[in-house]
Amino acid sequence: MALTRREFISGTAAGAAGLVVGGVVGKVVGGGGEDSAATTGGTVTNVSSDITAIAEARGLEPGDIAKAVKTFVPGGKPNLDEFYVFSSGGHSGQLMVMGVPSMRILKIIGVFTPESWQGWGYGSESDAIFKGGTTTNGGAVSPSRPTLTWADTHHPALSETNGEYDGRWVYIQDRANGRIAMVDLRDFKTKQIYDVPNLQSSHGGCFVTPNSEYVHISTKTPTLRPGVDPTTALENFADSFRGYSTFLALNPQTGRFDIDRSFQVELPPYTQDLADAGKLLSNGWVFIGSYNTEMAYGGNLEGNPPIEVGASKADFDYLHMVNWKKAEEVVGSRSVMQNGIRVIPLDVAVEEGILYLAPEPRSPHGADVSPSGRYIVVGGKLDPHVTIYDIEMIQKAIEAEDFEARDQFGVPILRFDSVVSGRVEVGAGPLHTQFDDKGYGYTSLFLESAVAKYSLGAPDFSPEESYKLVDKVPVHYNIGHLVAMEGDTVKPAGKYVIALNKWSIDRYAGIGTLNPQNFQLVDLTGEKMEVLSDTPIGMAEPHYVQAIRADRIKSWDVYPPGTDQITMEPSTHAIAAGAERIERNGDTVEVYMSVQRSNFKPDIIRVKKGERIVLHLTNVEVTPDATHGFAVPRYNISMSIDPGEYARIEFVADVEGAFAMYCTEFCSALHLEMQGWIIVSPEA
Ligand code: CUA
Repeated sequence: MALTRREFISGTAAGAAGLVVGGVVGKVVGGGGEDSAATTGGTVTNVSSDITAIAEARGLEPGDIAKAVKTFVPGGKPNLDEFYVFSSGGHSGQLMVMGVPSMRILKIIGVFTPESWQGWGYGSESDAIFKGGTTTNGGAVSPSRPTLTWADTHHPALSETNGEYDGRWVYIQDRANGRIAMVDLRDFKTKQIYDVPNLQSSHGGCFVTPNSEYVHISTKTPTLRPGVDPTTALENFADSFRGYSTFLALNPQTGRFDIDRSFQVELPPYTQDLADAGKLLSNGWVFIGSYNTEMAYGGNLEGNPPIEVGASKADFDYLHMVNWKKAEEVVGSRSVMQNGIRVIPLDVAVEEGILYLAPEPRSPHGADVSPSGRYIVVGGKLDPHVTIYDIEMIQKAIEAEDFEARDQFGVPILRFDSVVSGRVEVGAGPLHTQFDDKGYGYTSLFLESAVAKYSLGAPDFSPEESYKLVDKVPVHYNIGHLVAMEGDTVKPAGKYVIALNKWSIDRYAGIGTLNPQNFQLVDLTGEKMEVLSDTPIGMAEPHYVQAIRADRIKSWDVYPPGTDQITMEPSTHAIAAGAERIERNGDTVEVYMSVQRSNFKPDIIRVKKGERIVLHLTNVEVTPDATHGFAVPRYNISMSIDPGEYARIEFVADVEGAFAMYCTEFCSALHLEMQGWIIVSPEA
C-alpha cells in the first residue's frame, strides 16, 4: 500500500486500512483483518506434526489435550466464545467481562471505583456519576471523607425480555453502601449510580424482573429507622431497625432508574439475604432468603454471645415472599414517602397480602427460582440439604390461609410441609443453585468444595426420578456462587457451569501471601461433570456472575458522531473537524477541541491562573478502536475518548505553569507527537 507522507501523518488512509506499526515513516502494515505471517515475523511452527510429543514434553496428560481443544479460542475467531460472563469485581468496585469457553478477560468496566485508563473519575463528566442519586454529595456520610470511591460489587443483573436476557443493560449492586449502578451494553460503560434510600447495605437481592419492569435490591443488615436514637437501638432491635425490598422502576427505552415510579416494601429487621425474581408460574413474586431472624446483634465484649452464635440459635429462618404486582397496585394509595422514595409500611404489606414468610432450615443462603418458575431452591449452609419450595403449593397455602403462626411483626408464616415439595441431600455447605436446560439443578457446596447436580420435580422428572442427587464434581476451593449459561432465565443454555472459588491453594505459581481468585469452567455436556480449566482473575473476589449468549449483545463499534458517553445522545457541544475554536466568557475559557490521529486541535490553550477551563473534546475518528487519551500532568486529569465520542472536562487552572497535555493511547506511529500545551500564566 503506497501512502503519501501527508496521508500517513494524518492517519486517515492508514486508519481506514487498519493498524500502523513501526516508527519509520512509510512502513505500514495494513488490513486489520489480515492475520498474516507479518505478525509472527514469518516463522511458522508446524504444531500439527506431533501433538502427543508436544504434550509429553510439557508433562500434559491426554485428557488435558481434550480440555484444551474444548476451550481454546484462536486469535481472529471471536465467535468461538459462545457466551459472555458479566462478573462482579468484588471490592474492586468494578464489573468484569469474560468470554466462555476461553475464559479470557475482555474488559474491566469502571463502575464505583475510578479507573484511570478509562478516564473514569479523573476530571470528565464521569466524576458526577460517583455523586449520582445521593443527597450527601457522593454517598459518604463523613464530611472528612466526602465521596464514596469504592464499592463491594456483588450481583450483576442482566436486563430481560419475556424472562430471557435481551443484552441491553446490566445492573450491579454495592454490598458495602447500598447503591446500584446501571451499565449500557451498547458501549459497556456505566451511566448511572443510584444511592438507594433506606439501604445502608445490600447483598444478593439484585435481579431484574422478567420484562425489566424493575431491578430489585434489598437490604442485608437492616437499616436504622428514621429518628431512632442509635444509643439504645441494638437493645431495642425489633423496634429500631427495618429491612427494605426495593423495586427500582426502569425506563423501558434507556434502562435508567425512574425513581418516581419506584417503591420499597418494608420488611421485618431480619437479615435479608439472597433473592430471586419469580418467572412464568411465579411471575409477580420475589423470593428473599433470610438469616438472623433471631435479631442477634453481638456484644462479645459486653457479655452477649457473638453474632454468629446468636444468629444460629433457631432451627428455622424465613423465606420471604413479596408479591410485587400486588404492591404495584396499592403503592399509589397506601405508601408513605421516606427519604425520597415511596415505602409500603410493614403493616400495610401484611394487610394487603403483599408479604408472607415460609420456614427455611437454619441459616439458609441461596434462594434461586427454576426456569419454569415453579421451584424455589434454598441452600442450607449449616444443613446438607437443599430445600425445594413449589409455587403451586405456596399459592394454595396462601389462598387457604394455611398459616402455622405469625411472626412478632404480624407477618403470616406458611407451614413448611404445605409449601415444600422436596429436599435433596447434596453435601456439606450448600449455597447457591443454578439450572440447566434439562431440568437439573446445580448447587455449590462451600464446605465440601464441590458442585452437586440433582433432578428437580415435574414436569421434567417423574415422582420416582425427582429430587435425586446424580453427580458431583470437586472444585478448588471454597466455592461461593456458581453460574450456568443463562442459568437465571426461563431458557437456560446448559453446556457449562462456572465455579467461583474463594481459595486456590497450589493451583497457580506463587504470587506472595494472597492467592488469585479463581474461576473453574465445568463441562456439562458429558455423562459426568468435568472441570475444563482454571482461570485466575488478578483482582478482588468476583462474587457473582451472569452468563449471556454472545449473539444477544449488539454493541456499537463506534459512537454515532459526537455522542456524549453519559447521556448516549449527540452532544450540542460536539464538533466536526474544522469547527475547532476557543471561546472566552468572563473567567471561563471554553475549548472546542477535535481529537484524531495524531493531534489535538487546538494544541495550545492559554489561560490565566484562576480561570476555569471547559474542554469539549470530540474524537472525530470513524475507525473502530481509534481511541485517544487526554491527560494533563499534575492536575489529576485523564480521559479516554473512543471514536465518535464527545467528552467534557472542566477544571480551574489554579496552578501556574506549562503543562504538557498528551494522548495516553498508543494510537499511531506519531502517538508520542500527539501532545500540546496548557499554558497557565500569572493572574492579570
Ligand atoms: Cu492518540 Cu496516542
